[in-house]
Amino acid sequence: MTLEPNVSSTLAAISLSFLAFIVAPGCTATASVTGHGAPALLARPLDEATEQFVSSILSNMTLEEKIAQMIQGDIASVQPEDLATYKLGSILAGGGAAPGGNVRSKPQAWLDLTDRFYRASLAAPAKGHPPIPVVFGIDAVHGDAKLIGATVFPHNVGLGAAHDAGLMREIGKATAEEVSAAGIDWTFAPTVAVARDVRWGRSYESYSESPELVAEYAPAMVEGLQGMLGGKDFMTPGHTLSSVKHFLGDGGTHDGRDQGDTRVSESELLSVHGAGYVSALKAGALIVMASYNSWNGVKMHANHHLLTDVLKGRLGFEGFVVGDWNAHEQVPGCSKEDCPAAILAGLDMLMAPDSWKKLYENTLAAAHSGAIPAARIDDAVRRILRVKAIAGMFQRPPPKERRNVGDFSVLGSGAHRALARRAVRESLVLMKNSGHTLPLDTHAHLLVCGGLADDIGAQAGGWTIDWQGDHNHNEDFPGGTSIYAGIKAALAAGGSAELSRDGSYKVKPDAAVVVFGERPYAEFEGDLETLEYSPGDKRDLALFKKLRAAKIPTVAVFLSGRPRWVNPELNAADAFVAAWLPGSEGEGVADVLFGSAAGKPVDFTGRLSFSWPATAMPVLFAADGSVKNALYPRDFGLSYRDPGAPFVKLSEDPGVPKQWEVSASSLFARSHPIAPWSLFLADGADQVHLTLEDQASPHGIVTAGMDEAGRQFAWNGASAGSVRLSGRASDLTAAAARGESIEVRYRVTQIPDRTVLLKLLCTEGKCGTALDVAASLREPGEWRTLSVPLSCFAVPGSDLREVEVPFALETDGHLRLTIADIDLEPAREHAYRSCPPAID
Ligand code: BGC
Ligand code: BGC
Repeated sequence: MTLEPNVSSTLAAISLSFLAFIVAPGCTATASVTGHGAPALLARPLDEATEQFVSSILSNMTLEEKIAQMIQGDIASVQPEDLATYKLGSILAGGGAAPGGNVRSKPQAWLDLTDRFYRASLAAPAKGHPPIPVVFGIDAVHGDAKLIGATVFPHNVGLGAAHDAGLMREIGKATAEEVSAAGIDWTFAPTVAVARDVRWGRSYESYSESPELVAEYAPAMVEGLQGMLGGKDFMTPGHTLSSVKHFLGDGGTHDGRDQGDTRVSESELLSVHGAGYVSALKAGALIVMASYNSWNGVKMHANHHLLTDVLKGRLGFEGFVVGDWNAHEQVPGCSKEDCPAAILAGLDMLMAPDSWKKLYENTLAAAHSGAIPAARIDDAVRRILRVKAIAGMFQRPPPKERRNVGDFSVLGSGAHRALARRAVRESLVLMKNSGHTLPLDTHAHLLVCGGLADDIGAQAGGWTIDWQGDHNHNEDFPGGTSIYAGIKAALAAGGSAELSRDGSYKVKPDAAVVVFGERPYAEFEGDLETLEYSPGDKRDLALFKKLRAAKIPTVAVFLSGRPRWVNPELNAADAFVAAWLPGSEGEGVADVLFGSAAGKPVDFTGRLSFSWPATAMPVLFAADGSVKNALYPRDFGLSYRDPGAPFVKLSEDPGVPKQWEVSASSLFARSHPIAPWSLFLADGADQVHLTLEDQASPHGIVTAGMDEAGRQFAWNGASAGSVRLSGRASDLTAAAARGESIEVRYRVTQIPDRTVLLKLLCTEGKCGTALDVAASLREPGEWRTLSVPLSCFAVPGSDLREVEVPFALETDGHLRLTIADIDLEPAREHAYRSCPPAID
C-alpha cells in the first residue's frame, strides 16, 4: 500500500489494521458482544457495569419491546403518541421531513418535536426496567444544514481538498453543537465513501478517491461530533452520536450508479472502501449505516459475511448497524414491510421511514415463529441499548431540560461561521492563473456574473434544508453570504462590483468573476452518463468567450460536487478556481480571490483530493492504485507562491466513446434510466427502486432482468403491475404543445393477453389519461418503436405541469418485452396517426 507523502504514524497504524482487516489470518473471533471469543481487531474491553445494566434491561423486556427497539420511523409517518404503543428505538427526520411538514420551520419547532418524542419514550410503559429513551437522528452531513439559520459547511469533496484533519474535528464539534441545540442526538455522518467514478451523484459526500485521506478524516469527524471515547467530553452536552456510512462499497459501484453493484475483489473492497471504517471505529464510532449498494450482485442489506463476519466479527464492532432508508426492500424476497433476511444478515435497526408499523408487526411475527432466532434479536437489542448507555442517553433529561439546548444563538454563530469561512478558504483549488489575473485588487471595478454568482442555495448543494436542496434561495440562509456578497464586501474599501448574470455591464470592468457550475442534487438524481460540463447548454462557455473578446481578464469560479470535464471553460478563462460546494460562507471565496482576509495575506492551499479527468469519461484506477486519464493528478493545486508552469491550451475533444454519447431527450438508455430518472417496479400500492440485474416488484407481479439489448420485463398476470420511470416533477405542458412524443424502442417476446396501459403520473393525483397500447405489442421478436404524442395525455381536466412519472407501462395480464430506449422526442411523423384508445 502506498501512503500519502505526509504519512503519519497514525496512518501507518491504520494501514496495518487494513491488512489485518483483509487478511485476518486464522481469525475466528466472533462478535465480542457477549465478551466471549478471541478478541477481534478493534474490540475494546466492554465496560462491565454498562453490560450488566444492559443485561438487566434486556432480561426484563418483552419481545414486543425488543422488536420496536430495532425499528426507526420517520417524523413524516410517526407521531410522539405512537410511542405509547410502539416503543421504537429511534426516530429520524429524513431529507424531506420536518416539523409539520414545513422544511422552513423555526429551530424552536424542531426542539418542540424532539422534546415530545423523547418525553413520549420516557413515558411509555416499561415494566421491570427503566424507560428506554428514543434516539433522534438527522442528516447533518455538512453542518446542521436542514435547519434554517445553521452554518452550512462545505460538502466533503471540498473538505477533502483542504487536507486538514484538524479542521474536520472542529467542524464536527461545531456541527454537533448546532444539531444538539434542537435536542437531536444523532447525526448520519460522516460519509466515508471512497468515490471512484465521480459520475456517481453522491461523489460530493466523499472526502476523496484516496482511502488514506478518508481514513485520516473519518476519525477526526467522529471525534468532533461525539467527543473522545473514553475522554471527559464524550457525548457531553453539545455532542451527538455519529454514524459511519454507507457500509460497504457505496463509492465503488459499476459506472458510478447510485445504489448499484460494486464489482471488486474482497481485498479491494476492504482496503479501498473499508478504509474509513477501521479508523472511525477506532475513534469510537458506535453506529454503522449499511449501504444500498450490492457487492458482486448481493445487496449489502443481505450480506451476512460483511455485516456479521467481517464488521462485527473480524473487526470487533460492538455498536449497532442501522439500515438505510427502506433499503431492505431491495433485498430479494423482502418488502419494505417485511425483511427477516436483513436482520439475519446482521442489521440491528431497520430504517423504515413510512413502513415502520407493518415492519414491526411482520418482524414480531417472524420472531414468534422462530424465523428470526431469539439470540439474534437479543444481540441486536443489546447493541442498541449498549450504544444508548455508552452515549449517556439513560441519564439525559428530555431535550428542553438539557443545559445548552434551546439556545439557538449557537446556530450560525460568529465562531462557527468563521470556521466555515476558513474551511472554504482551505478548500479552494487554483487550477489556472494566467497573466497574474489573481489576486484581484480591492480597488478594482469588478463584474460579477454567471448564473450562480448570487445564489447561496447553489453554493450549498444537496442535503440542505431539504433532500435535493434545489429549491433554496438566499433568504433561506439568514446570516449567510453569496459569493457576490463576499466580493462586494471585500471591495468596500475602494472598489466596486456590478452584478450581472449575463455579463453585460454599464461600466467596463477591470476584471470579471464568473460563478457557474452544477445546480443542487442528491443521491441518484445526480448520477451522470459523462462528466462533460453542461453538455446541452453552452451559455456559460459563450459568456467566457464574450468576456475574452472584450479583453476583460476573467476568473472562473466553478461550483460543483465533483470534478467535471471543463477543458473549453479552462481554455477560455484566464484564471480557474474549483470551489466545490462551499456552503453558506461565500466570503471565504473572496478572501482567497483577493489574497487577503482581515488584513492578513491569504493564499490558495487547497489541493485536489480527486483526480481531475482529461476527458469526459472518469479516470481509471489500476490495481496498484495509480490513476489513468487524469488531466490534473490528485494533490494538484497552484498558489500565488507557486504559480506552476504556464498554462498550455487543452484539448477540447471530450473523448466520449460512441456508446456513452448522451442525448438530451433520453430518459432510458444502455439498460438504465438517465438521471434524474429512476426505474421502479410497482404492484398494488407498493413499488421498489430497480437497482439489481434481476429484481421483482414488491408482490412479485413484474420481474426485471437484463438481456443483451436492454432491460427485460415480464408480467405474471396475477394482478396489475407496472414499470415506472420516475424522478423530478417536470412540467410537460410546453413539450406537449410543441408536439413532442414519448418514444419507446422495444421488442416483445410474449404478446399481451389483456390491455396494456401507457400512463403518466403526476404529483396531485390524476394527470393525463391511460392509453391502451396493447395493439402495438402484437408482433413478437421485432424491434419496434412506440411513439405516443404527449398531447394524447393532455385531455380536458388533466394537468401536465408536475409530471413525476413520464412513463408507466401497466397490465394485469401476461406480457414480456425488452426495452432498449425511452426518449422524449421532438415532433415528427408518428407511428400513431391518432392517439391510442383512452381507458378510464
Ligand atoms: C441516504 C442516507 C441517509 C438516509 C436518511 C438515505 O436515502 O442514503 O445517507 O442518511 O437516507 O435520510
Ligand atoms: C428522503 C431522504 C431519503 C430519500 C431516499 C427522501 O424522500 O427524504 O431522506 O434519503 O428519500 O429515497
